[in-house]
Amino acid sequence: MSDRVIVNEVGLRDGLQNQPRHVPTEGKLEILDALIAAGVRSVEATSFVSPKMVPQMADAAELYSRLPQDKGVTYEALVPNEKGYERAIAAGAKTIALVLAATEQMNQKNIGMSLERATEVNIAVIKRANREGIKPRSYIATSLGCPFEGDVAPEVVFGIAARMFEAGAAEVAIADTIGSGNPAQVKFIFATLAARYGADRLAAHFHDTRGLALANIWAALECGVRKFDTAIGGLGGCPFAPGATGNVATEDVVHMAQQSGFETGIDIEGLRKAVAVAEKYTEQKLGGRVLTWIESQERRKQAKASAAAE
Ligand code: COA
Ligand code: ZN
Repeated sequence: MSDRVIVNEVGLRDGLQNQPRHVPTEGKLEILDALIAAGVRSVEATSFVSPKMVPQMADAAELYSRLPQDKGVTYEALVPNEKGYERAIAAGAKTIALVLAATEQMNQKNIGMSLERATEVNIAVIKRANREGIKPRSYIATSLGCPFEGDVAPEVVFGIAARMFEAGAAEVAIADTIGSGNPAQVKFIFATLAARYGADRLAAHFHDTRGLALANIWAALECGVRKFDTAIGGLGGCPFAPGATGNVATEDVVHMAQQSGFETGIDIEGLRKAVAVAEKYTEQKLGGRVLTWIESQERRKQAKASAAAE
């Protein structure tokens, strides 16, 4: 099994969509430059959704046209429907992330469709993407719990995943939108899906609402999954899912992966600079646990050095 972990940075989309402070396109590009300098090569850059519902993503087309294309980065854009798909393709997207939720109410709140309608729309867009040479990935939000309906039966998630793969999804990502999942649940879901479709066609998206995101990632890693969504500094939360806090921090996932012998191609010091840029634009303190630790080590060193100088 591969020892390479793909860290798919979603801070520019999932991370920023909920920010009270508007981050201009230039700010997003500056955060992106810092991420690329740190070694990030897989990025969900934006979403082509209703600008009325998510004003932070209103610049999607402009941002897409300005993404650096010479650094070997794979970009993707989230799309909720055919109109989003068309906007994304017109802006130059080559990979799209379709999204629907595992529960009725979350689909209604998030994309204004029933689960059945959302499934049909996702299937139609996946088929069209395949015809048009675009790579479709499929996200199943609230797979491990819903803010409106509570527990989600794994069979529901398996049923949706089956329909997405049948339609031609290149990958299915299981998303714990509100961070309510636990490692045992993650293991069951990913072991089942990996046995059916292969772990290399799966990805995982965890929020750290209750501190279980790293444990959940580890559970998925043990099932062979190697692609994980993360957000720089732990930014994020879904505006339509009450109680959802940030995504798992990119730097914490990179640190865990590296400490455990996996390669990510990403450098923590570089991520630290990206966190600083994200802090500048969001005007909030960000950063995963590993940065707190690094800072405490530096303070200790400085204290020692100044004590020695006295
Ligand atoms: N991008 C931009 N505009 C869109 C759009 C898209 N993907 N899809 C529809 N619209 C426009 C329509 O053209 C229409 O515009 P008009 O009022 O000027 O005629 C308007 O939005 C309403 O269209 P309708 O089909 O009735 O959509 P809706 O109001 O039910 O909204 C979504 C549907 C999917 C566009 C909206 O719910 C949405 O953007 N959800 C995503 C939320 C999100 O980003 N969540 C976090 C990530 S999972
Ligand atoms: Zn999310």
